[in-house]
Amino acid sequence: MGFKIGLLGLGTVGTGTAEILLDPTGRNPLLQEIEIYRVGVRDTTKPRTVDLPSTAFTTDLEAIATDPDIDIVVELIGGLEPARSLILKAIHHKKHVVTANKAVISRYGDEIFTAANEAGVYVMLEAAVGGGIPVIQPLKQALVVNRIQSVMGIVNGTTNYILTRMQAEGADFAEVLADAQRLGYAEADPTADVDGLDAADKLAILASLAFGGRVKLEDVYCEGIRQVSAADITYADRLGFTIKLLAIAHRESPTDNPDLLQLRVHPTLVPKAHPLASVNGVYNAILVEGDPVGQVMFYGRGAGAGPTASAVVSDIMSIAAILKVEEIEAQQFNQQKVDVPHPLLS
Ligand code: NAP
Ligand code: HSE
Repeated sequence: MGFKIGLLGLGTVGTGTAEILLDPTGRNPLLQEIEIYRVGVRDTTKPRTVDLPSTAFTTDLEAIATDPDIDIVVELIGGLEPARSLILKAIHHKKHVVTANKAVISRYGDEIFTAANEAGVYVMLEAAVGGGIPVIQPLKQALVVNRIQSVMGIVNGTTNYILTRMQAEGADFAEVLADAQRLGYAEADPTADVDGLDAADKLAILASLAFGGRVKLEDVYCEGIRQVSAADITYADRLGFTIKLLAIAHRESPTDNPDLLQLRVHPTLVPKAHPLASVNGVYNAILVEGDPVGQVMFYGRGAGAGPTASAVVSDIMSIAAILKVEEIEAQQFNQQKVDVPHPLLS
């Protein structure tokens, strides 16, 4: 059995995803069973760097979301609409969904997961937080027995890249932002990065998973890095600190009021000896503290084509693996029906 993918978007992350799927040698053999069947883009005449047949391309993304031959829809167009509607349409047409879209998940996660539960399909979002860092699955599985006290970290690659270069080279804000865009780190509208909104979306997702329930984006205090000047960075450095845009979620008081959370994104003076102070460039790090596990830190490249595609394709593979097991079980069940005669008939 092969699995057919409908890829919505072939930009930075979509191209990285296609590159992995088109070059399965030396990777997990299940990849060979995954076919990029259709690709939805805005402009079908744009030159592409991946080798896909022109017949696979369309600007009709709804046709992909509803195509009966497609098993998994991979949403990599970004933004709120039409991404939200396409995800819901795919779910209603019984397709599993993989997305890297933190903006849609943080705002419409309830609607999307309710629809997915009703339709009996999976929605996976590892790439939505931390680029290539596996952090969603560990929070859902390996750390699930813990009472989480805090989740905090650097979850935006663009702003960490900007702050790092401002600190190391005294580089100009606008110039470094342009580099981050060229390298494919920034959002289509980079104000989401610079003003902390992208980090706030990610914090809402992380906190929902870590603390249970639903953390709303509007509950996150959000301040970006626009006001951070070269002088701030120099003075912080002299005093033994580095300035990082941190996303922080912690229980207000673990004993008195464990259900009350503090949720905030803002530039923070981090002592140079703290593990987050040495997370530089496009790297992200997420520090989780739980009882009884203690501190666990996740670290890796938080943006860019390759790392993010690694997370997207892992999600695709996880779904394909589940579908494969379900198919084998169904075959065995049918086999038993044929092989084992009913006792009343023998
Ligand atoms: P991108 O480079 O801007 O690519 C977007 C793609 O979607 C393009 O192929 C574009 O088509 C297509 N597209 C956008 N709007 C469309 C529409 N209305 N109809 C048809 N096609 C449309 O974006 P990206 O950086 O790959 O990001 C994609 C998603 O991944 C976003 O949700 C982002 O937040 C998330 N993400 C990105 C990164 C990263 O490092 N870039 C990391 C983690 C998560 P054309 O090619 O024809 O223009
Ligand atoms: N624009 C985002 C960042 C992409 O810079 O972190 C990864 O989610």
